[in-house]
Amino acid sequence: MRKPILIGNWKMNGSLHSNQALIVRVLARIRPFCKTIDMAICPPFPYLFQVRDLLGYTGVALGAQNVSCATSGAHTGEVSATMLAEMGCRYVLVGHSERRSLYHESDNDTAARFRQIKACGMVPVLCVGETLKEREQGRTEEVVERQLRAVIDENGMAAVAGCIVAYEPVWAIGTGRTATPDQVNETHRAIRQFLENCAAGAGQSTRIVYGGSVNAANAAELFQSPEVDGGLVGGASLKADEFSGIGAALANTVTQTDSSCDAVDSFQME
Ligand code: 13P
Repeated sequence: MRKPILIGNWKMNGSLHSNQALIVRVLARIRPFCKTIDMAICPPFPYLFQVRDLLGYTGVALGAQNVSCATSGAHTGEVSATMLAEMGCRYVLVGHSERRSLYHESDNDTAARFRQIKACGMVPVLCVGETLKEREQGRTEEVVERQLRAVIDENGMAAVAGCIVAYEPVWAIGTGRTATPDQVNETHRAIRQFLENCAAGAGQSTRIVYGGSVNAANAAELFQSPEVDGGLVGGASLKADEFSGIGAALANTVTQTDSSCDAVDSFQME
């Protein structure tokens, strides 16, 4: 079984004061189900230290929103994977559509960042997704496969074991317009099949989460498909009631018999 995971991506939001209030409220609300699902919060870099301390030993993991493709040295403004690991990060987002579109990070950049994350023992959350134009042209599967292939070509299939794929259609991010459950289901299934074709077992063991205007009201519907292993949440992760409501909806998808499920960190290579 794949253990569901809910990841909050705060993007470029927060302050020392508001972070503290938000985390305290979130932790109070998730207590009933925090062991049923995995949870992580990805604050901006300057707040990693603060959020790590606030999360303490609650079981909610720390994540980062990006990482440098270089290891160390003369790269002003960059943050290395070693530094993130030292801060206690377990997850690192990579290839987010805002990085791809606003900061021109290519498929190859994404693959190099993915390599750094793996080299430091953290879990990459590889974001893939099509633009509205690409969807209207019927190119969704081609686009996400191209994004996945770039990472696999650079890192090999073995490196993909234990990573998380986040399907985030660009047109659904921050727009209030979610993909329909059918659209999500169809694309997740295509991603899983693609991974399975690359290495037996990879499709079944990889957690694929959905992101794009998820909120407490639409989460249950979006998470109902067994293809969906959780969510990557932006705006709603900044509101304690919304984020915990999404977590509760995700935990509700786990049946009693599933509750001992765990993420699979490896699969048999053919
Ligand atoms: P929203 O939930 O604000 O649409 O953002 C999704 C996202 O980009 C998470 O990484």
